[in-house]
Amino acid sequence: MRGVVLAGGLGTRLLPLTKVTNKHLLPVYDRPMIYYPIQALANAGIDEVMLVTGGNSAGDFLRLLGNGKDFGLKRLNYTYQEGEGGIADALRLAEHFVDGEPVCVILGDNIIEGNIARAADGFRTQQQGAKILLKDVKDPQRFGVPVLEGDRVVKIEEKPAHPRSSYAVTGMYFYDARVFDIIKTLKPSGRGELEITDVNNAYIADGTLTWDILEGWWTDAGTIESLHLANQLVAKTGANKMGVTG
Ligand code: G1P
Repeated sequence: MRGVVLAGGLGTRLLPLTKVTNKHLLPVYDRPMIYYPIQALANAGIDEVMLVTGGNSAGDFLRLLGNGKDFGLKRLNYTYQEGEGGIADALRLAEHFVDGEPVCVILGDNIIEGNIARAADGFRTQQQGAKILLKDVKDPQRFGVPVLEGDRVVKIEEKPAHPRSSYAVTGMYFYDARVFDIIKTLKPSGRGELEITDVNNAYIADGTLTWDILEGWWTDAGTIESLHLANQLVAKTGANKMGVTG
């Protein structure tokens, strides 16, 4: 399985912290933010990774991460997203790197207490379709929110004003290689982006999306409040522990 870390965007919700640097280079407790999602992939046994960056300071990622050997990666590739096309647009750039394999996609600002090894193993067995990880949160309206019927996810709504469950779709996704064909069919959303939620809804329509609940705490770090929370959580309990699975 290949890994893709999405670390583009202008990070406008964190201005002025992101005026001269990329959001994912900002510190979260004792490490740059981007270390956490890369470590999460490495802990799940994914050692071929592509980092998609964009916006400011793209060259700094190479200086920071080099060839990925500090994380035990076999290879770390880089590409650059021009403009602000959204998460699915950034993923599109990894098509040739993924090369027909199953892929685990992780958003560069997602930080977890535990790890995604069990979910990755589940998807290695599943092979086809997609898998998402859900987490019960206090503020689902900030995220993609699943609509559940029994234990079936029938739809995901992106940042709904009136969330129909208390779960967030976390920024860790598993896809088969069809994901790139699905992305080619997408139209930009109201915010002018190709939405990962539309990708997931296509797999739901296809009947091939599975889900798990993520164990341990999870946060994004894309707003001042959530970046502050991420610092506190990592300082208190640490992140990417091997014992807690999701
Ligand atoms: C993105 C996705 C959203 C998901 C979230 C997880 O939102 O669009 O569905 O729940 O990541 O971090 P963003 O924070 O990029 O707006």
